[in-house]
Amino acid sequence: MKAGADSDRYFAHPSSFIDDNVSIGAGTKIWHVSHVMGGSVIGRDCRIGQNVVIGPNARIGNGVKIQNNVSVYPGVELDDFVFCGPSMVFTNVYNPRSEIPRMAELRPTRVRRGATLGANCTVVCGVTIGCYAMVGAGAVIREDVADYALMVGVPARRAGWVGRHGHRLQADAGGAWRCPESGFEYREVRPGVVRCLTLDENAPLPAP
Ligand SMILES: CC(C)(COP(=O)(O)OP(=O)(O)OC[C@H]1O[C@@H](n2cnc3c(N)ncnc32)[C@H](O)[C@@H]1OP(=O)(O)O)[C@@H](O)C(=O)NCCC(=O)NCCS
Repeated sequence: MKAGADSDRYFAHPSSFIDDNVSIGAGTKIWHVSHVMGGSVIGRDCRIGQNVVIGPNARIGNGVKIQNNVSVYPGVELDDFVFCGPSMVFTNVYNPRSEIPRMAELRPTRVRRGATLGANCTVVCGVTIGCYAMVGAGAVIREDVADYALMVGVPARRAGWVGRHGHRLQADAGGAWRCPESGFEYREVRPGVVRCLTLDENAPLPAP
C-alpha cells in the first residue's frame, strides 16, 4: 500500500507513510506525517493522530485512539478501544546502552481493552495495563496495573478505581460502587480485583 492511499477501506493522509505488508482495518484514519511500518496490524475504526510511528510488527486492536506524537514500538500490543494521550511514551528496552545491542531483549507491554494512558505519561516496558485502567497525565508506570485502576504520579500509585465510562468509583449508601453516568455497578470482589457486575469488560456497550 503506498503512502497517501485513500482507499474505501481506510483513510491515510497524503503526508503519511504506509509501508508494504501492513493490514489496516476499514474506517481507520491516519493523519499527518504518521508512519505505519511493515508487519503491523491495525484494526478497524481507529484514529491515529499526527506524528505517530507504529511498528514494525505492532498489533493494534479495533477502535483504538492514538493522539499526536506517540510511538508504538515492536513489543507493544494495544487491545480494542485503548486510548493513548498526546505525547505519551512507550518503551521496549529496559536498560538501553548505545554500545550494546539489546533488540533481542525487548520486554513486551500489553495494554488491555479500553485502558486510557494520559497525556505525557511513560510506560516502562514489561508490564500489562489492565482493562479500563486510567493512567493520569504525566504518570510513570513501572509495574502491572489492575483492571479499572486509577494510577497517578511518579512512580504511579493507585489513587482509586474508575469505571468503564472514566468516572471515579465511590461507594453509595449501600456500599455499592455505581457509575454516575451509566449506573453500572462495580465491586471489589477480592482485594485489588474490581469487576463490573452490570456488563462483562469484553462485552460491547449497549447502543445509546
Ligand atoms: C486522572 C484524572 C482523570 C483525574 O481523575 P479523577 O477521578 O477526577 O481524580 P481526582 O482529580 O479526584 O484525583 C485523585 C487524586 O489523584 C491526584 N491526581 C489526579 N490526576 C493526577 C495527575 N495527572 N498526576 C498526579 N496526581 C494526580 C489528585 O491530586 C488526587 O490526589 P489526592 O487524593 O491526594 O488529593 C485526571 O487528573 C487526568 O490526569 N486526566 C488525563 C487527561 C489527559 O491526559 N487527557 C488526554 C486527552 S487530551
